[in-house]
Amino acid sequence: MSNPALPRPLTLAVPKGRISRVLVPLLAQAGINAEGLLGDDRRLVRESEDGRVRFLLLKPDDVPTYVEYGCADLGVVGRDTLLERNYELYQPVDLKIGLCRMAVAARIGAHVPSVPRVATKYPRIAQKHFASRGMQAEVIFVQGSVELAPVTGLADLIVDLVETGSTLRENGLEERETVCAISSLLVANRTLFKLHHERIAPIVEALRRAVEAGSAPK
Ligand code: PRP
Repeated sequence: MSNPALPRPLTLAVPKGRISRVLVPLLAQAGINAEGLLGDDRRLVRESEDGRVRFLLLKPDDVPTYVEYGCADLGVVGRDTLLERNYELYQPVDLKIGLCRMAVAARIGAHVPSVPRVATKYPRIAQKHFASRGMQAEVIFVQGSVELAPVTGLADLIVDLVETGSTLRENGLEERETVCAISSLLVANRTLFKLHHERIAPIVEALRRAVEAGSAPK
């Protein structure tokens, strides 16, 4: 962990990409002007307008790692990532943005064998899901474009995120089951949260109130 005695602005690790469009208004509601996150440049460290908060722009899967190791006090991370790996993180607020679901899908009308091959970026979630149904499954890890797996015969099923459903539809797939609801959560480094409670807790509480006020754009 980085030296917690070193002074630094409160640091929030955020995922690069489309979530910024809904995260920035939520942060604004919590009193943090994070418009800088929307700038289309290559800077990986940015600041709130008042300099109170520093943002680290990361690949979504790396956000929990930076928080766990104390390089960030707080982070915004999808429940999918938290379910797939084991992190020692405090999860104080469900931000209720990035709403989607983890689902099982197959080719439209396709017969699924009793021990299906399942392609996914989420082998742990998939394995647990089929185990909970008392089903055996051969889980095949893929990095992305998961919907291609049933189309090409790599797999009978996929376990993947579904938001609008258009990726499934446009590839001739249909949802067979919902595994769980997914949203983005605020996570915190447990040690830093205790050590710097007076600095971190007000922002956590402001975000909690912003979510409760129902002001988060969906
Ligand atoms: C995600 C997810 C699905 C798609 C779902 O992929 O893995 O493929 O979005 O969204 P929809 O239901 O609104 O179509 P992403 O765009 O992150 O790319 P990837 O396939 O490379 O993972």
